[in-house]
Amino acid sequence: MKGIIFSGMRPTGKLHLGNYLGALENWVKLQKEYKCYFGVVDLHALTTDYDQADELKENISEMLIDWFSAGIDPEKSTVLIQSYVPEHAELHLLFSMITPLPWLERNPVLKEQVRDLGLKENINYGLLGYPVLMAADILIYKSNAVPVGEDQLHHIELTREIARRFNNLYQKIFPLPQAKLTKIPRLAGIDGRRMSKSLKNTISISDCPETIKEKVKSMITDPQKIRLNDPGHPDICIVFNYQKIFNQDQYKEISIGCKSAKLGCVECKKILAQTLANKFEGFRDKRKYFEKNPKIIREIVIEGSKKARNIAKKTLEEVKKAMKIDYE
Ligand code: AMP
Ligand code: TRP
Repeated sequence: MKGIIFSGMRPTGKLHLGNYLGALENWVKLQKEYKCYFGVVDLHALTTDYDQADELKENISEMLIDWFSAGIDPEKSTVLIQSYVPEHAELHLLFSMITPLPWLERNPVLKEQVRDLGLKENINYGLLGYPVLMAADILIYKSNAVPVGEDQLHHIELTREIARRFNNLYQKIFPLPQAKLTKIPRLAGIDGRRMSKSLKNTISISDCPETIKEKVKSMITDPQKIRLNDPGHPDICIVFNYQKIFNQDQYKEISIGCKSAKLGCVECKKILAQTLANKFEGFRDKRKYFEKNPKIIREIVIEGSKKARNIAKKTLEEVKKAMKIDYE
């Protein structure tokens, strides 16, 4: 084994193509090479969606079904729910003592969230501390690597800073974890901005072929290619960008067809929609199995959280000793 991995996702429902290409597909690969912990970070979800707590249970199920259908294997990886391992929250509190406020206030991810969610001045304490909780998630397992999409890089940098500060102040307990990106660390959504649930520009990996077709149909192409026989500019076209990612066998031909005005956008979109539907056909079948057997999933995460807790408790004990809060 090459080392220890922790990564997590907020349970906001079904996963999209960005989650898949930026993280989940990589998790499935890495579980053969690393000791992996994958966490459903429900407390992180509450930092923004605290008023939608009713949806949490359903969202956790949907996300776990996606993980297992995509190939996360409980025989190889430990799958846990963050709130079932309360040591994450306790370590978060201890880390909050050594995290200077300006580190959190300058967080660009927070600034983006404030803009996208319209939060303005109304930021809650938990949201400001989001990266501190994330550092606790990662470091409680002494992880060396964290497979995530590009939007998380700043958070991982902060995790390293917190680890460095802890190690200098008290005792060298933590490794400095590295982010692990994929070839597609930032997938654009159907409107060209970063694919994200909050921007409502996603294609879910569980979408049925009909829905995929509708969504692909609505994608904007090269504005100068209005009729079939207008030559197109694939390099500025989102649909072509997708063809390059998902249709490696055909994209060169598609580029030639588009530039020479032989392939129209309608046809090009049909090819893409079909390719996407085919890619996730096996996944959709597996999903049906887990949808019918929710008990299996519950058992896996209860078992996984217990296993994770044993490790987390040990790290927390070490931390408390180092911070002199063990009165023995
Ligand atoms: P989230 O749904 O924001 O909790 O993200 C879960 C994981 O997917 C994180 O590792 C993100 O970095 C990754 N991710 C989210 N959106 C994208 C995207 N558009 N492109 C690539 N990776 C993404
Ligand atoms: N912030 C991550 C996201 O939005 C989710 C997350 C929480 C996470 N804790 C983590 C990712 C620890 C990696 C490691 O996607």
